[in-house]
Amino acid sequence: MPEETVQDLYGQIDAYIQELFLPDDPALRIVVQSMTENNLRRINVPANAGRLLYLLARLVGAVRVLEIGTLGGYSAVWLARAVAPAGRVISLEADPHHAAVARKAIAVTDLADAIEIRLGDALDLMATMINQGEAPFDLIFIDADKEAYPRYLEAALQLARSGSLILADNVIRNGAVLRAPDTDAGARTMQQFNKTLATHPRLESLIVPLLGRQHIDGIAISRVR
Ligand code: SAH
Ligand code: DHB
Ligand code: MG
Repeated sequence: MPEETVQDLYGQIDAYIQELFLPDDPALRIVVQSMTENNLRRINVPANAGRLLYLLARLVGAVRVLEIGTLGGYSAVWLARAVAPAGRVISLEADPHHAAVARKAIAVTDLADAIEIRLGDALDLMATMINQGEAPFDLIFIDADKEAYPRYLEAALQLARSGSLILADNVIRNGAVLRAPDTDAGARTMQQFNKTLATHPRLESLIVPLLGRQHIDGIAISRVR
């Protein structure tokens, strides 16, 4: 098929799945509207990826969830919906503006008590969590600056237990990881990260490709042994 026909088909399939399975969630609507009003980049996970995060959290019965990279709180809401009312999502964010926008929006949802946003560099915050004995988390979602993914994984393993899920967004980058040229440091880091997931003695992993808004990306799913 010609390329634009393939892209069009991807878009239609993505829309078809969304129409079938996406619940109308008032908290999600509040967060999306707040991101638009505050001019945050729309780099939140696509709706169907949010639904996958939600289902995975439900499947493992997650209660304690850690997210790395809050942005406007969109994926945090999906994860909180999965663990509320008993559970809690701690979400780490380095950008004070993003954290403020997310906190303000989440405060007026029914999930305010289920989401805690911590401001700071995620590696610093995770080191503190390790030292303060805040482990273990049932599910850890990595979605911040891509260069630090390998270090987030090492910290995540210290915050996990046997059976925990470690998830990572943006591991396909529309196929950039296939080629990963010298000019694309992000893609090369991700290529190495994916190889680590595949070979790590403490992990059983797979990448699930997902249709995004304009392109194909993927979420890595790992179970800690
Ligand atoms: N998970 C969000 C999207 C996150 S976008 C969602 O799907 O809705 C990535 C976020 O990571 C941005 O808000 C960015 O400010 C944040 N970030 C980048 N570097 C970081 C770091 N070192 N520590 C914590 N957060 C960081
Ligand atoms: C970017 C970051 C993300 O987490 C994402 O899902 C898409 C894009 C970015 O920094 O460009
Ligand atoms: Mg992402």
